[in-house]
Amino acid sequence: METQSIFIRHARIIDPSRQLDRVGDLLLGGGEILAAGRLGVDRIPDGAIVINGLGLVASPGFIDLHCHLREPGFEYKETIAAGSRAGAKGGFTTLCCMPNTDPPIDNAAVVDYIRQRARQDSLIRILSIGCVTKGRKGLELAEMEELANAGVVAFSDDGDPVYDANLMRLALTYSSDLGLPISNHCQDRSLSCNGVMAEGSVATHLGLDGIPAAAEEAMIARDIALAESTGGRLHVAHLSTAGSVPLVREAKERGLPVTAEVCPHHLTITDQWVLGGKGEPRASAGSLAYDTATKVYPPLRAQRDVDALIQGLADGVIDCIATDHAPHDITSKQVTYQDAAFGISVLETALGSLLQLVHGKKLSMGALVDRLTNGPAKVLGESYADLASMQPGTAADVVLFDPEEDWTVDTSEFESKGRNTPLEGTKLKGRVVATFSGGNMVYQGPGLRFEESRARV
Ligand code: NCD
Repeated sequence: METQSIFIRHARIIDPSRQLDRVGDLLLGGGEILAAGRLGVDRIPDGAIVINGLGLVASPGFIDLHCHLREPGFEYKETIAAGSRAGAKGGFTTLCCMPNTDPPIDNAAVVDYIRQRARQDSLIRILSIGCVTKGRKGLELAEMEELANAGVVAFSDDGDPVYDANLMRLALTYSSDLGLPISNHCQDRSLSCNGVMAEGSVATHLGLDGIPAAAEEAMIARDIALAESTGGRLHVAHLSTAGSVPLVREAKERGLPVTAEVCPHHLTITDQWVLGGKGEPRASAGSLAYDTATKVYPPLRAQRDVDALIQGLADGVIDCIATDHAPHDITSKQVTYQDAAFGISVLETALGSLLQLVHGKKLSMGALVDRLTNGPAKVLGESYADLASMQPGTAADVVLFDPEEDWTVDTSEFESKGRNTPLEGTKLKGRVVATFSGGNMVYQGPGLRFEESRARV
C-alpha cells in the first residue's frame, strides 16, 4: 500500500546516531525517510500532508527493550493490539516483549505465534525475547539456538532471575556463540526473601518486608564475573540501586561485553510514593495508607539511588531506558500490598516522566533521545542500527513530541489494558504529538497541527 508523503516543517530534528540536533524539515515517503535538514517549501511533494513542527522534537521512534505484552496467556492484562497502541501513543515504534507469557516464549512455535499476532494486530514493530530456561523454571536451558533461529533478539527469564549460576554461565557461553545478549532480572531471592518494597525507613514504617540493595548488586556482580569468564553478552535489566552503577561502570572499563538499562520510574520516583501520598513526605489526610500501584520489581528506592541512576544514565554507564511496562488487571492490585502483583503500566507515561529530567537540567534532551533510541539499538546489535537512524533510506519510524505540553495522567484514557500506575492524576510536561511507523501515522495526538497542503497543479 502506498503511504502518503509527510512533510514536517521546522521541527528540532534529533538523530543521535548521526550526532544531529538542529531545526529543519523532515520528508517521509514510501515508508522511508527521504530527506532531513533545511529542505524548504520547494521540497514539499504534491499532495503531501504538511505538519507544523515548530517547537516540536522529531526523533527516531523509541525502542523499548523490555516490556510485557502478556500474550499469549494473560490477555485479560494486556494484548499485543492494546500494548502496541499504548506503545505508539508513548512514541515507541519497536517493543521487545518479555517471555513470561503462558506458554512462555521458550520454543520457535511461540515466537512464530507472536510474530503472526503482531502482523495482524500491531501498529508497530514487535520483537520477541526468548526464555533462558525451559518454561522459565530455572532448571535446564531452553533451546536457545532454535529460539535464535526463530528470530528472538535476546534471552531472559524476566520476572525471575536465572538463579543457578552454572546455568547462567552456560547461557552466557551460548549467547557468545549466538551473538545475542542475556538480559537478567538480577535479584538474589535468598536476600530478597518475601520483600515487597525497598528495605528502608518507609518499609519499616509500614511494617512491610524490605528488599535489600544487595539482592540486586550481588547478582550483578556474579553475572559480570560470568560474562568475563565466558565472553557472553550480559545485559542487566532494570538497574535500581546506587551500588549497581559502579559495578556496571567497572565492568565496562575492563572492556567486558556488559550493557544495562534503567526504567522511567526508577529515575523519577522514590519509595516515599509507596505511602500513597505521591511522594509527599507524609500521606495527607484522606489519601491511601499505601498505594499498590507502586509495587514493582525491582522496588522503588531512595532519592540517593535515583540520583545515582540519573548520573549513570547521563554518563552513558547505563546504555538505555527500558520501560518494563508491566500491565495488570485491577483485581491484581486492589488487594493488600503483600498480595498485590508487581508491575507498573509505563508505555504511555514514559516520555512525560522522563522529560522532568530534561526540564530539571539533569539530562540533556540529546542524551534522553539517545537513551531511548540509539542506546537500545546498540544493545540489539549491528543489524538493528537502522531502527535508531533518520538517515535517508531507512524506515520512517519517527516520533514527534512537544516537550512543553502540560497534561494530567488520566488512566481512563490509556490504550493499555493496564491502568496500574502511581502517576494517575499527576501533572507531566511533555507529550507525544504523533508517531509514524514505516511512514504510517500510527498515533495522532491532540497537539498535532496541520498546515494547508501545498499541492501544486
Ligand atoms: C513484571 C511483570 O509483571 O511481568 N513485573 C514487574 O514488577 N517488573 C515481571 C517482574 O517481576 O519483573
